[in-house]
Amino acid sequence: MNYSAEDIILLDRGADTSVTVHLHGATIISWRCAGEEMLFLSKNAIFDNLKAIRGGIPLVFPKFGPWKYGPQHGFARVLRWKVEMQPKKDKNGNVFAALSLEDNDLSRAMWNIMFKLVYTIRLEESALHIDFTVHNTDKITFGFNCLLHTYLATPDITKSGIIGLQNLNYQDKVNNCEDVEEKEELIVREHIDRIYMDAPNEIVVGNMAGNRSLMLKTFNFPDIVIWNPWREKAKAMLDLCDSDYMKFVCVEAGRVNKDIVLKPGQSYECSQILAAITALL
Ligand code: BG6
Repeated sequence: MNYSAEDIILLDRGADTSVTVHLHGATIISWRCAGEEMLFLSKNAIFDNLKAIRGGIPLVFPKFGPWKYGPQHGFARVLRWKVEMQPKKDKNGNVFAALSLEDNDLSRAMWNIMFKLVYTIRLEESALHIDFTVHNTDKITFGFNCLLHTYLATPDITKSGIIGLQNLNYQDKVNNCEDVEEKEELIVREHIDRIYMDAPNEIVVGNMAGNRSLMLKTFNFPDIVIWNPWREKAKAMLDLCDSDYMKFVCVEAGRVNKDIVLKPGQSYECSQILAAITALL
């Protein structure tokens, strides 16, 4: 991959279990769990410290989707973050690190708001915890969206079922309508772009990398976006290889349906845990 050592931090737990975070956007670009890569990262991902990285876990803030003031999905995924805490191991062997982003000339040129974001990562033997906090350091109230745009790696998307969305209302951005999910297990077989609202805080995705299932647990992330561009759209994306659409499904925990509103001095904390479980569904 085309990035330098100064661009990343590595949380290494040993036994080929690690997390690599790129400081451009605080993008987690790899989570290896006992020798298995659990996240999809495009071989054509562009590491120019300008564009969003295609794959891993880009972070969406302060706006999900197109935005009149700046780039799609906001600016947090395309700005350089600081290392707030270098990787440290605790007595159980778990590794922690934290990054932060405060408003700066670039962010204020798009969105004239003062804030501090803190992104804390904890790597356990078979789980990756992410904690995201938004602090309002301004004198005015502001509203925002946030979302973890997680690209989960799968050996074959047509065999990876998503469980936990049944009976939820969703906005279908492909067909431009609202609907209710009927399926107990959602299997992606075409272009999908949906926002599921009021989702439960546990979702399971079966048949993922290394014959594992992934359990996604969330806190203060009421929406789940499911996205895959499928064949034709993927072809048009310069930073994806043609057949890559078969190798990932984006399961994105966020708060995007309604803005979160923070008064001066207030903070919003949200988190996700991805746990690799061996039991097959
Ligand atoms: C998803 C959106 O979260 O991200 C899609 O719902 C979008 O509409 C996709 O196409 C990818 O966005 P981007 O900006 O990373 O190409």
